[in-house]
Amino acid sequence: MKRPFAELVGTGRYTPVRVLTNAELERLVDTSDEWIVERTGIRERHIAGPDETVAQMSRLAADQVLSQAGIGPLDLDAIVMGTASPDRLLPSSACDLQALLGAERAAAFDVQAACSGFLYGLTVAEGLVSSGMARNVLVVGAERLSTITDYQDRSTCILFGDGAGATLVRPVANGNGRGILASYLKSDGRLAELLYRPGGGGCHPPDERLLADRGYFIKMAGREVFKSAVRSMADACDQALRRAGLTSADVDVLIPHQANIRIIEATAKHAGIPMEKVYVNVDRYGNTSAASIPLALDECVREGRVRAGSVVLMVAFGGGFTWASVVVRW
Ligand code: ACO
Repeated sequence: MKRPFAELVGTGRYTPVRVLTNAELERLVDTSDEWIVERTGIRERHIAGPDETVAQMSRLAADQVLSQAGIGPLDLDAIVMGTASPDRLLPSSACDLQALLGAERAAAFDVQAACSGFLYGLTVAEGLVSSGMARNVLVVGAERLSTITDYQDRSTCILFGDGAGATLVRPVANGNGRGILASYLKSDGRLAELLYRPGGGGCHPPDERLLADRGYFIKMAGREVFKSAVRSMADACDQALRRAGLTSADVDVLIPHQANIRIIEATAKHAGIPMEKVYVNVDRYGNTSAASIPLALDECVREGRVRAGSVVLMVAFGGGFTWASVVVRW
């Protein structure tokens, strides 16, 4: 088994105050609470208000991490932000977060890997730490998907929610086996248009047509995405465990990307991990893309489901397509 170079220290999360229930969505589009719960497992999601920006939500999550790690913002060498719904297209939300934190010594940048963004960010952070480039790397997954969700499209608006989660990656403090045991990243850009935002970028800059065709909102071919998600998350579980020299029996907690309860159940079944070991909060938050895994990780740690020595398998899938997995000994 690989000796870990980097460990995760501290967790934090923030979810917006406003909760949007399935009953409210029934009044917006032709859907029902019964359909949403049966097909997705989602009952409610949090929706950001005007002051709950990606950077602000991230800051509240990051403050918790810094205080648990016993460091200040000036100790940060890098800030890596996974997001697919940045506050603005330029500069990165990581730079906005840096300014809010007063982390003047850090390099800050976003990672765009949709729902896999947090795990991509963790892996980038591990690389920075193990190469000696950085000692303290703040990794955040944060989304304000409500700003890019079409509330006239019943096939997507029932799914998405907002929130932020964070952790710190730093060199392992001692040889007790804690840390990142293995990671796996994969993408397939040929499938981009199954889950994407057609407009707003250089190929389709903002104009009246963009407003008319609602091309700045997320478009998704749900059924095709569903099949790829199950296949890819299964692949990612296998790959990370193999790289870590572990089997599913060694996993104490599986934290899958919270997209849909049926995808989560299929992933757990493939991995041979019983549902008692699988963390699920999709019912309360919906799909929060890059924020989904750090939100769940923070809840697991605070509830005591993840404790010192726990082997945690995190696995994600999202637009790109991208998929990823990370195994950590907590
Ligand atoms: N309410 C009622 N009926 C609906 C709704 C709704 N909200 N949405 C779709 N339907 C209808 C469809 O129109 C269709 O009707 P038809 O049979 O008359 O054509 C029927 O329900 C079945 O539609 P499907 O799309 O086949 O439904 P499915 O069981 O696949 O569930 C869902 C749809 C929930 C979107 C599912 O496909 C899914 O979860 N896909 C994966 C999403 C995902 O994992 N995304 C991850 C990445 S997200 C990111 O990266 C940002």
